Amino acid sequence: MEFGGYVGSTMSAAYYSLKNVIRNFYAFDSFCGLIGTQENEKEIFGDGQYSCNEKSYYHNLAFADVDTSRIHSVAGDFLALNENAKSIKEKNGMEYCAIAHIDCDIFLPAYECLKFLEPLLKQGSFLLMDDYNAMYCDNNAGLRKALRLFSAKYPAFQFELHQFYGPHQASFIVHKIAKKYFFRR
Ligand SMILES: C[S@@+](CC[C@H](N)C(=O)[O-])C[C@H]1O[C@@H](n2cnc3c(N)ncnc32)[C@H](O)[C@@H]1O
Repeated sequence: MEFGGYVGSTMSAAYYSLKNVIRNFYAFDSFCGLIGTQENEKEIFGDGQYSCNEKSYYHNLAFADVDTSRIHSVAGDFLALNENAKSIKEKNGMEYCAIAHIDCDIFLPAYECLKFLEPLLKQGSFLLMDDYNAMYCDNNAGLRKALRLFSAKYPAFQFELHQFYGPHQASFIVHKIAKKYFFRR
């Protein structure tokens, strides 16, 4: 599942890396660019940036010879994603997520994407975050803030750093701790 599809570059790469082990690929995007940039993110990012419509997105995938019947788009603003989460999951038969790639750059939508993923992430799922180290690695902005707040809200999850696979990118192994191991307070 990719949150932030833009022109389809990373989806094409994911398709060619994983097409023999993953059946369905999901592309979530507004298809009209960033929405929800906070004041402290505006030095680097801005609403409307990275806009690519859905038709062009699929055109690019087809040009890269991707089997587009396996790429399912979910169009809409991530800020409203959790209002429609149940119907999106049911409609697309989403039961779990093996690999999530969050590439929407900024805090608010990234946080909503993590909340959407909460019931879908399993022990051993992979979480990739582009721009994790963007904005000077500020823990109060962007993807760092999203993961920090999500971890505080959902203590059943632990995110083990797997690697920094680029100057801004980080991947994590998801650990989901069984509720029976929680201490009572
Ligand atoms: C940097 S681009 C993604 C690049 C893409 N992975 C690629 O390789 O081409 C960021 C994407 O996040 C999407 N995005 C940002 N905020 C969003 C929001 N609130 N709702 C939906 N999509 C959003 C933008 O539309 C854009 O396509």
